[in-house]
Formats: sequence, C-alpha cells, structure tokens
Amino acid sequence: MHIGIIGCGNVGGGLGRIWAEKGHAVTFSYSRSREKLAAVASSVPNARAGTPEEAAADSDVVLLAVRWGDVPDAVRQAGTLKDRTVIDCTNPLTPDMSGLALGHTTSAAEEIARMAPGARVIKAFNTAFAQVYQEGNRLFGSRRATMFYCGDDAESKIVTAKLINDVGFEPVDCGLLTSARYLEPLAMLMITLGYGLGMGTNIAVDLIRR
Ligand SMILES: NC(=O)c1ccc[n+]([C@@H]2O[C@H](COP(=O)([O-])OP(=O)(O)OC[C@H]3O[C@@H](n4cnc5c(N)ncnc54)[C@H](OP(=O)(O)O)[C@@H]3O)[C@@H](O)[C@H]2O)c1
Repeated sequence: MHIGIIGCGNVGGGLGRIWAEKGHAVTFSYSRSREKLAAVASSVPNARAGTPEEAAADSDVVLLAVRWGDVPDAVRQAGTLKDRTVIDCTNPLTPDMSGLALGHTTSAAEEIARMAPGARVIKAFNTAFAQVYQEGNRLFGSRRATMFYCGDDAESKIVTAKLINDVGFEPVDCGLLTSARYLEPLAMLMITLGYGLGMGTNIAVDLIRR
C-alpha cells in the first residue's frame, strides 16, 4: 500500500515507521523543517519525504497526524482528498491540553470530513499513546491491545483494519464516523490516566468479551 503521512511527529513518525517496516511505501510530509522531514524519511526503509499534496496524491491511504490547531492548514496543504481514505488520529485538545475543544454533537473526525469534501474519513489510532507506537512491539504480555476505529465507508474500514493489524493491535469496529464523538473523549480519559494520574504513556485499552 502507498501511505501518505501528514504530520511526522510522535504519532505520524511512529506509525509511518511501523508501516514502512511492514513493506508499505510511506511518504512523510508536513514539518516546519525540511531537514527534519528528510531525516525521518531516510531513517526508515521504503520511505521518502514530500509535500502534503504529494503525500496525498500518490497514496491509497492518508494518515492525518497533526495537532488540532494545525488541521485546517494541513488539510488545505494536502489539496483535494476526494475519494481518499483519510485516517484521522487527531484529538481536538484545547491548547493547554486540559480538555477537548469540541464534542457531544460533533467530533474532530466529522469536522475534518467537512473540511475535506468527499474524503473517506476513518477515526483510528487516537486512543493509544505515541510511546506505544514507538516501542519495539505492541504486545502487553501476550495480549494485543484494542484499537477502536469508526467511519462511514466500508471499504476504507477494511483497509484501516488491515493497517491496525499491521501495527499489532486488535481492530474493533465502532460503527459510523459519529462514534468518533465517543473515541475522542476516550483519548482524553487516557491522557488523564497517563499524565494526570501518573500511569505513564506505556498503557493501552484492552476490550475483553465472552
Ligand atoms: N502524542 C500522542 O501520544 C498522541 C496519541 C494519539 C493521538 N494523538 C493526536 O495525534 C496528533 C499528532 O500528535 P503528535 O503528538 O504526533 O504531534 P507532534 O509530535 O507535535 O507532530 C505534529 C507534526 O506537525 C508538524 N507541524 C506543526 N506545525 C506545523 C506547521 N505550522 N507547518 C508544518 N508542519 C507543522 C510538526 O513538524 P515540526 O515540529 O517538525 O515542524 C510535526 O511533524 C494530535 O492531534 C494528537 O492529539 C497524539
């Protein structure tokens, strides 16, 4: 698969590396430093650096991994995202990270779908910490952690589930994109546990069933 990463920081850099090591062709984009982007790309196999527009144009899947305040600029720089699978891992945090800037009646994922007409937006990868993506593997003991995802396009959800598997999580389909209204607060709970209550960031959710 060709994967365009927009935002090559903690999350985009970590997930891009995992997918590249799995054999996907990855384009890293969106940084204030061209040198940093080139360094990230050259440290990973099957990867190159480009502009957000190049990352989007050449890819089967686009990962949007920028801070909430940078989303409008990143989406604008990507150009048209019509018919693209856009995986949104953002959380709409307030600038001081103390809470969510929106919720209940909408979500970052739905707002991104509005900003990028025709894009097939899927919410995923927002409920685990970047540290987990940067560790050597995603196993907790012998257990795979859960990665919740949601979206309105069935084909894009199948692709996303494959990419979640590649990362080493168990994909759990949460239905339509409106479920992002629940996944984004879940991420806020993780932030509260990880930072506010001292559990640290090497934690993840595991949904059990019988
Ligand atoms: N960190 C986590 O544990 C975590 C977990 C799940 C979801 N998320 C969500 O994922 C998203 C990304 O988080 P992150 O921690 O990966 O953020 P990050 O490390 O700050 O990465 C953001 C990226 O955006 C780039 N950027 C920022 N401003 C820019 C500008 N004006 N022009 C061009 N590039 C710019 C940065 O590049 P330079 O700095 O090189 O300029 C960097 O590559 C956020 O919405 C966050 O809420 C984060």
